[in-house]
Amino acid sequence: MDKIDPILLRDAFGKFMTGVTVVTAVRSDGKYVGFTANSFTSVSLDPPMLLVCPGKFLSSYKTFSNCSHFSVNILSEGQEKISNIFATSDDDRFTKVPHKLDLNGVPTIDGATVQFSCTVDNIIPTGDHCVLIGQVDDLKLSNEPGLGYVGGQYFSLGLERAAFKDTRSNAICGAIIEDKDNIILVKTPDGLQPPQCKAIDRSNQIKDLNDTIINYGISAKLGQAYSVFEGIKSREHSTYFLATGNIKDTSSDVISIPISQLNQQKFTSPAISRMMSRFALEAQSRNFSLYLGDVEKGAIHGIQERK
Ligand SMILES: Cc1cc2nc3c(=O)[nH]c(=O)nc-3n(C[C@H](O)[C@H](O)[C@H](O)COP(=O)(O)O)c2cc1C
Repeated sequence: MDKIDPILLRDAFGKFMTGVTVVTAVRSDGKYVGFTANSFTSVSLDPPMLLVCPGKFLSSYKTFSNCSHFSVNILSEGQEKISNIFATSDDDRFTKVPHKLDLNGVPTIDGATVQFSCTVDNIIPTGDHCVLIGQVDDLKLSNEPGLGYVGGQYFSLGLERAAFKDTRSNAICGAIIEDKDNIILVKTPDGLQPPQCKAIDRSNQIKDLNDTIINYGISAKLGQAYSVFEGIKSREHSTYFLATGNIKDTSSDVISIPISQLNQQKFTSPAISRMMSRFALEAQSRNFSLYLGDVEKGAIHGIQERK
C-alpha cells in the first residue's frame, strides 16, 4: 500500500471532535512540565483509568515517558489562551497560568472543568507517541462546559447552544453573507438588511433561512452564530449567522456592498447597523466573536478566528 499522505492523515484525524486538555507532570529536578493534548480518552470505570498520548517531539517527553504521576485537566470554555500557552514553545508556562498542586504534588490548572490526578499504570511507546495510561487517584469536577476542538479550531458548545436557546415563534433568523470583500444585503423600503426570515419554529430555523437565501437567488453556506439578541419591547428574538456565498440571480433586490463601505449604509434598524459595524471592524482581523444580549446591551463571547 502507498504511504498515507501525512497532511491528509492530519486532516482526517482532525475531523474527530474532541475536548482540549492540559497534561502536567513534575520533572526529576522539580520543574513543572505540561502540554496541550486532545488525545485524551477514558479507558476504564473500575478501576478508574484514562489515557493520553504524549508525542516523542515534546520537550517534556522524557518526563512523561518516565513519570510516576501526572494530571489531566479538561479545559473549560474560554480557556483557549491556556491551551495556546501549553501548545507553543514557552518555558514560562506555569508563571502565566494559575495552578495548584494535587495530592501527588503535580500541578493542576485552575478553572479547568475537570482535574484528574493520576498514578501511572502503564506507558507504551508506539509510533511517534507513547500511550500514557493512568489510574485516577482523585478528580475535581465543575459545571463549566468544556472547550471543544475540531479541524484545528476551538469551538464552544455552550455559546452555540445559547444562540438557539429561547427561540420563540417571533424569531428572526438571518445571514451575514460574505462574497470575498463584499457583503450580500437585501434592499427594503426602510433600508438594507441581511437576508433573513421569520423562523416559524426553532427546529426549522436553519432550513427556513437556507430556503430564504435560495429564494433571493443567493448560493451560500452558513457558518457560526454571530449575533443573538432580543428586542426590548417586541421580545423579538434575532439570530444572525456568518456565511459565505455569492449572488446567482441578479434580478432580485439583492446587492453586494464592499465591507469597507458598510458603515456608510442605512440599515433597517439601529441593532442591525451596530451588528454590521462590528462585523466590518472584526473582518479586518478575521477574529469574529459572538454577541449575546438585547438590542442595546450584551456581551461579546469567544473570539474565533475565521480564514
Ligand atoms: C488542541 C491541541 C491538541 C494537541 N494534542 C496533543 C497530543 O495529544 N499529544 C501531543 O504530544 N501533542 C499534542 N499537541 C501539541 C502540543 O501541545 C505542542 O506540540 C506543545 O507545544 C508541545 O510542548 P513543548 O513545546 O514543550 O514541546 C496538541 C496541540 C493542540 C493545540
